[in-house]
Amino acid sequence: MNGPVVVLVGPMGVGKSTVGSLLAERLGCGYRDTDDDIVAEQGRSIADIFVDEGEPVFRAIEKRAVHTALAEHGGVLALGGGSVLDEDTRALLASHRVVYLSMDVEEAVRRTGLNTARPLLAVNPRRQWRELMEARRHLYTEVAHAVVPTDGRTPEEVTQAVLDAL
Ligand code: S3P
Repeated sequence: MNGPVVVLVGPMGVGKSTVGSLLAERLGCGYRDTDDDIVAEQGRSIADIFVDEGEPVFRAIEKRAVHTALAEHGGVLALGGGSVLDEDTRALLASHRVVYLSMDVEEAVRRTGLNTARPLLAVNPRRQWRELMEARRHLYTEVAHAVVPTDGRTPEEVTQAVLDAL
C-alpha cells in the first residue's frame, strides 16, 4: 500500500498531533499534519481563513491539502477533525490504514475548554461539541480500520494502543 503508514482521524483536541509525533518517533518515520500544511500554504491561521472566507472555502482548501498529503507522505499523517465531512476524502481513505482516536463529549470539553483559536468551538463549547460529535462520529467510524479510545489515557498509552492496532 502506498501513502502514509497510518492516518489519524478524530475530533479536535483528541491528541492527533501529540500521538502522531510519538508514533512517528516509535516507527522511525516522518510526521505530517494537514492543518500545518494549510497554514504554511496559506500564510495565515486556520481561524483567519474561517473568518476571512468562511467554512466552505476552508473545506475546499482542506480537501486539496488532504488529498495531496495522502498521495505524497509516507509516514504518520494526522488529518484535521473535519476532513471526513468530505465524501471523496472518505472514499479515498478506504485504501489507507486509518485509526480513529475517539473521546467522549465531556472529555472533549475538558481538554479544549473555551478554545477560541478553534473557530467551531467559539460560542458554546459543550453544545457545539455535542453537535459535532453527533454529526461526525459515524463518519470517523466509517473510515476507520481501528478505533482507539483516548479517555483517561496518556499520549504514551494511546500511542502504544495505536501500534498494537496496526
Ligand atoms: C476542525 C478541526 C481543526 C481545524 C479546523 C476545523 C474541525 O483541526 O482543521 O479548526 O472541523 O473539526 P484539528 O482537528 O487538528 O484541531
